Amino acid sequence: MRYAFVAAWAACSSAASAQPIEERAETAHSPPFYPSPWMNPKAIGWEDAYVKAKDFISQMTLLEKVNLTTGVGWQSEQCVGQVGSIPRLGLRGLCMQDSPLGVRFGDYVSAFPSGQTVAASFDRVLMYQRGKAMGQEHKDKGRERHAWPCCRTSWSPPRRRKKLGRLFPDPWLTGVGLAETVKGIQDTGVIACAKHFIVNEQEHFRQGGPNVSDAISSNVDDKTMHELYLWPFVDAVRAGVGSFMCSYNQVNNSYACQNSKLLNGILKSELGFQGFVMSDWAAQHSGASSAVAGLDMTMPGDVAFNDGKSYWGTNLTLAVINGTIPEYRLDDMAMRIMAAFFKTGNEIEQPTINFDSWTKDTYGPMHYYANEGNQQINWHVNVQRDHRNLIRDVAAKSTVLLKNENNALPLKAPKFLAVIGEDAGPNPKGPNGCADRGCDDGTLAMGWGSGTADFPYLVTPLDALTMKTADDGTRLEHVIDNYAWSSTQALVSQADVTALVFVNADSGEGYITVDGNEGDRNNLTLWGSGDELIKNVSSLCNNTIVVIHSTGPTVVTEWYDSPNVTAILWAGLPGQESGRSIVDVLYGRVNPAARTPFTWGAKREDYGTDIIYEPNNGAGAPQQDFTEGVMIDYRYFDYKNITPIFEFGHGLSYTTFEYSNIKVEKSVAGKYNPTTGSTPEAPTFANRSPYIPYYIYPYLNTTSSAAEASQDPDYGKTAEEFLPPNAIASEVQPLNAAGPAASDEPGGNRQLWDIMQTVTATITNTGSIVGEEVPQLYVALGGPTDPPVQLRGFDRMRIEPGQSAEFRAILTRRDLSNWDVASQNWVISEHPKTVHVGPSSRKLVLSAPLEI
Ligand SMILES: *[C@@H]1O[C@H](CO)[C@@H](O)[C@H](O)[C@H]1NC(C)=O
Ligand SMILES: *[C@@H]1O[C@H](CO)[C@@H](O)[C@H](O)[C@H]1NC(C)=O
Ligand SMILES: *[C@@H]1O[C@H](CO)[C@@H](O)[C@H](O)[C@H]1NC(C)=O
Ligand SMILES: *[C@@H]1O[C@H](CO)[C@@H](O)[C@H](O)[C@H]1NC(C)=O
Ligand SMILES: *[C@@H]1O[C@H](CO)[C@@H](O)[C@H](O)[C@H]1NC(C)=O
Ligand SMILES: *[C@@H]1O[C@H](CO)[C@@H](O)[C@H](O)[C@H]1NC(C)=O
Ligand SMILES: *[C@@H]1O[C@H](CO)[C@@H](O)[C@H](O)[C@H]1NC(C)=O
Ligand SMILES: *[C@@H]1O[C@H](CO)[C@@H](O)[C@H](O)[C@H]1NC(C)=O
Ligand SMILES: *[C@@H]1O[C@H](CO)[C@@H](O)[C@H](O)[C@H]1NC(C)=O
Ligand SMILES: *[C@@H]1O[C@H](CO)[C@@H](O)[C@H](O)[C@H]1NC(C)=O
Repeated sequence: MRYAFVAAWAACSSAASAQPIEERAETAHSPPFYPSPWMNPKAIGWEDAYVKAKDFISQMTLLEKVNLTTGVGWQSEQCVGQVGSIPRLGLRGLCMQDSPLGVRFGDYVSAFPSGQTVAASFDRVLMYQRGKAMGQEHKDKGRERHAWPCCRTSWSPPRRRKKLGRLFPDPWLTGVGLAETVKGIQDTGVIACAKHFIVNEQEHFRQGGPNVSDAISSNVDDKTMHELYLWPFVDAVRAGVGSFMCSYNQVNNSYACQNSKLLNGILKSELGFQGFVMSDWAAQHSGASSAVAGLDMTMPGDVAFNDGKSYWGTNLTLAVINGTIPEYRLDDMAMRIMAAFFKTGNEIEQPTINFDSWTKDTYGPMHYYANEGNQQINWHVNVQRDHRNLIRDVAAKSTVLLKNENNALPLKAPKFLAVIGEDAGPNPKGPNGCADRGCDDGTLAMGWGSGTADFPYLVTPLDALTMKTADDGTRLEHVIDNYAWSSTQALVSQADVTALVFVNADSGEGYITVDGNEGDRNNLTLWGSGDELIKNVSSLCNNTIVVIHSTGPTVVTEWYDSPNVTAILWAGLPGQESGRSIVDVLYGRVNPAARTPFTWGAKREDYGTDIIYEPNNGAGAPQQDFTEGVMIDYRYFDYKNITPIFEFGHGLSYTTFEYSNIKVEKSVAGKYNPTTGSTPEAPTFANRSPYIPYYIYPYLNTTSSAAEASQDPDYGKTAEEFLPPNAIASEVQPLNAAGPAASDEPGGNRQLWDIMQTVTATITNTGSIVGEEVPQLYVALGGPTDPPVQLRGFDRMRIEPGQSAEFRAILTRRDLSNWDVASQNWVISEHPKTVHVGPSSRKLVLSAPLEI
């Protein structure tokens, strides 16, 4: 379930109601940053969009602008979220639709591999192509080829905690994935949405809970924020992303959707983000406060789902009229929304939305919750194109070969295959049998929650293996019940058997609980007694090959080094072509090259961080202190000298590679200059004042009836009485020293992307078959608080047997800098620095000092 909050239309961005935990010196709080930055007309890449948005906004009335900012309510239109339309100017409401792996609730759509899965490919082209294919499907659900502005199709940020579905612990890799996905999506005319902003690191308490007053607070210091959690979002901004989604949680006890330090200070001032910020669904907790803190769109618009009330809508109109919210702030919200719309190539006239999120019926209510407006709502348009080929390719190229002994793989028409495990077969209820995939039955090809799409079909591993073995004349028998040990035992004890054991571990979004797991996993073991099944099978079969489908690492300690476990593969969450893609890898049609995008530790405690499952602050907001700083995942293992089972970046091939000849070439980059100068004054684009005294308006009476219209119990408080100082200032503001200058690209100070070093190395395929290799570049920044090494480059290169190729990577100023809290800027430290190149984070076969 989702917990709805009804919080006051009150002040924010300072310490909330949470009581201090015992032993805590003080409750973390978030410093104010006001006023909310307005768009920069000269921001590179946004200039044309700015002009078009300005022309459009200038024609709009107050009500029309408010319409753009406020969702029409949960299940009130066809999309998961939709803002009001502007009929007078021919704009139909913008449609916001999940999900990060397809068109959620759509029929005849594709189910792509998860973002984490494609991250394992370490392949920029595949990341881009996947984004583009998803964008096309979103767009085609608008019937014609153009104009289907959708959101919520995104990558999530890095994840600190180990048990979550969306675990992306490395910021550099995540940044590349996020940027390529954004470019792919937006090249089709769909607005991408980077989410969740920010430090939404666990599902438990993300929206509070029955026994706590508020959502969990992620308490993160400034340096860790910049060097780890913010990093990938910077790449999204550089890639031109049109929208961001603020998250449910609090940061330093201020809700992320009204945290002025995050939205005004970091995102819009420091990064110079020009697009719009929308709330996660019901993540808004205040009206005027969230508006001045930098929120631009409320989703799905109502205070609590289907209560018919809104913090914005009528309230925002009133707040502008009565002077609480300056008109420029509303104009800026509308500008940002329309600029993102135009930047992605959209025109005002748009096709009809051709599907409905709430029913697959052809005819039904347009306004589903109200059950009104019966008409055709589904056209059942097939938008899949030939994406199945890309899906199969991405899934195969993202499958990580963790172990391969005695050339167990690739398979060469084996005599007898025993396929074992529920994870090889279908869900008896069908691939979409559980709403939002809220179960773990049959093979696991996507997690659960709103980040899902309906499978058009699901090729299970058993399906594809059956077809393959039929072609080869291999005997294949299967037991796809984890608890049918006597049948399994009878099968795998036979002579000449190759056992393929399929196992999984699932997780998802917190509003669904599966087998007692409330979004986050409760443990790191395999589900359905998978570890015991592997141990049982491998005790009888000396050629046991394990395939893991999971949302993150599992503890494989008890069985991974058995000599009878000859190969282990991690296939992530592969999507609809699961079976065909794993067969491609098992039989060598695709020579694996993917790398694990997280560390596989020997035990749960080795990760150093954990989920908070129980309230830890009485009835107040649970407090999650990020005391480990930047030391998560491999950085933590390296720092603490803990040996993992499979390290970050590890992955094998059916051929072998050698690394040689590292060279470092220094480039001339000037001295770093903090950005100076200031913004223009806040512009307003109304062609007439929103309220002229004595003028007769049809919609509003600003005296007695206003309080009634607002239904705000505290109606009448002025901005001075409850908004922070400067919240409504409109004068020129200084530019951020770490941010872009007046005519720069958004993302940060331009010089952060100066090329400082170019690193090259020779990679040779020393085996006998063609293969792909993922050389990785790591830097040691050398300081006592720096991780021993951190990823700063990679490539995926195809090399013929006996041939060599040159790996080349650049290091930018940003790659070599630390965040300096005192100067609030990036600096390159004096500590001696080293660059390493190798096939994983722990096989750093080449090293060279970096001369700065
Ligand atoms: C959170 O508080 C820490 C200090 O405890 C500070 O360094 C950081 O900038 C704050 N971040 C936000 C977003 O308020
Ligand atoms: C606001 O949006 C609603 C819903 O799309 C629409 O009916 C209404 O006419 C719009 N209002 C204005 C002022 O354009
Ligand atoms: C809330 O607290 C009550 C009383 O302590 C307890 O019985 C219940 O299990 C708690 N609910 C949750 C979801 O933790
Ligand atoms: C205005 O916002 C308040 C919360 O501050 C809410 O209680 C009220 O219902 C809203 N008014 C409308 C008309 O939605
Ligand atoms: C871990 O959780 C899974 C899924 O709920 C469950 O199947 C398994 O038994 C649990 N493992 C342990 C050791 O409790
Ligand atoms: C493992 O084998 C034991 C007998 O040795 C059996 O009792 C148990 O059910 C088996 N478990 C699984 C998951 O196969
Ligand atoms: C490996 O498998 C063989 C049967 O092929 C069995 O005899 C042996 O005990 C197994 N070894 C281990 C370590 O499980
Ligand atoms: C597995 O055991 C069989 C005999 O059952 C033997 O022929 C084969 O060489 C063994 N394979 C390995 C990899 O040890
Ligand atoms: C608003 O309406 C009230 C009656 O509901 C009336 O007394 C008042 O004069 C009106 N004010 C304006 C500005 O029209
Ligand atoms: C202005 O309108 C907002 C939104 O309804 C309300 O919260 C606030 O109290 C009003 N302020 C004044 C001074 O009337």
